[in-house]
Amino acid sequence: MTNETKNSVSLENITALAKRRGFIYQTSEIYGGLANSYDYGPLGTELLLKIKELWWNFFIRRRDDMLGLDSQILLHPETWVASGHVDSFTDPLVEDQLNHKRYRADLLIEEYLNKHPEEQKEIIIANLSTSELDELIGKYQIKSPDGNPLSKTQDFNILFETAIGAVTDKKSQVYLRGETAQGIFSNFKQILNSNRQKLPFGVGQIGKSFRNEITTGQFIFRTLEFEQAEIEYFFDPDTNSWEDLFRDWQNQMWDFVTKVLGIKEENLRWRRHTDKERSHYSKETYDLEYHYPFGWKELWGIAYRGDYDLRQHQEFSKKSLEYIDPQTNKKFLPHVIEPAAGINRLLLMLLCDAYQEDPSKERIVMAFKAKIAPYQLAVFPLLKNKNELVDKAKQVYEDLRQTYQVAWDDRGNIGKRYLSQDEIGTPFCLTIDFETLENDTVTIRHRDSAKQERLAISELNNYLKTALA
Ligand code: GAP
Repeated sequence: MTNETKNSVSLENITALAKRRGFIYQTSEIYGGLANSYDYGPLGTELLLKIKELWWNFFIRRRDDMLGLDSQILLHPETWVASGHVDSFTDPLVEDQLNHKRYRADLLIEEYLNKHPEEQKEIIIANLSTSELDELIGKYQIKSPDGNPLSKTQDFNILFETAIGAVTDKKSQVYLRGETAQGIFSNFKQILNSNRQKLPFGVGQIGKSFRNEITTGQFIFRTLEFEQAEIEYFFDPDTNSWEDLFRDWQNQMWDFVTKVLGIKEENLRWRRHTDKERSHYSKETYDLEYHYPFGWKELWGIAYRGDYDLRQHQEFSKKSLEYIDPQTNKKFLPHVIEPAAGINRLLLMLLCDAYQEDPSKERIVMAFKAKIAPYQLAVFPLLKNKNELVDKAKQVYEDLRQTYQVAWDDRGNIGKRYLSQDEIGTPFCLTIDFETLENDTVTIRHRDSAKQERLAISELNNYLKTALA
């Protein structure tokens, strides 16, 4: 654990920019907001779609050993009993004894330790029992954020419950899924039968998950409703070494974040879960952590879950989930490696990593990788009251829109338009001026260097293909 901050950007700056420019808004703001919930504005929606599409291409479409799935948010309630969520999907809850506000005990302790590094002796708080947490709260005399004494810690189940139909007895009770993974396990046999897939193979899905999180406050890092991109990779432990597969998946995750999303390597690290921290069925777990403005935090987890999930579902459903090896006829439950990412955390990472202030030019630049930016290009007519410039600019704009996401701006002066595009991360701005009308060239201005060059319109497509590769 560490509280040094490599990223100079503050969460306040990110939150303000995200709201100002239409990336992320507070949910139901006109009603005073809804706790731990955020909506994605026009630019945030573009980023979410891009992340999901890049993930899907990288992990599903380009591989022969991967299949996609889209299971429901509401599954048979027995699913969550079998998976262990009904019994133990809990967070440690403490209550301010005076005003009854509720907090997560482990997060309060972590916050205290971040402020008191002298106390830190590699204490890992995750998975401590309620009495161990109470012991630490007592030892450090931790109070609520309002300075009041805290109640004893209790386990609070974070699965959201709801009911199907008009009846509200136990029978109609269902849960909003707490992870997308269980839809993959419960469909395992169907996927196997309908695709004749041979081991090893994986199934990936992207979708909403829900957790009744107790406290958050770190913007979209931990919310009630969020999107996950999860993979269950099934294999025969007698044929494939889990260590090799695990390492290979770790490399794939690293490559996706650094090469596809363009994140700086120095802001990423692996953290291995300690034996105490790891779930009892997991033989190995690592978190890929990003250095958010509030410290190193989990972006993406990877766990070796053995055959725990398939075995549980087999037992509870009383249906065989075994795989039959077509060559040897060996019947067995495959083992699983699970890389599980949060799309919203990937988005928050993109915003934090891209944010740059350029004080000399008094500008903020969102230096997204060109391909990731919500708009790849902006097109401006130099003057908005000269029809010939506007007509030509519209023509260039419409042509480019066939292939790229292009912004149009004819407000204010060119300098202001550049600054505005810098703030949303548009890598190239094209200005149509009087010279364009003479020789069909445009000014192309680069976001990061703020340099400009002249380019023939006929060369634009080739130029952009290379720049956006
Ligand atoms: N199936 C395994 C699983 O769900 P997890 O570590 O609980 O593992 C996986 O979740 C990923 O989902 C996390 O690494 C994180 O990126 C994201 N995630 C989990 N809870 C979240 C929340 N409340 N808000 C936003 N993202 C969350």
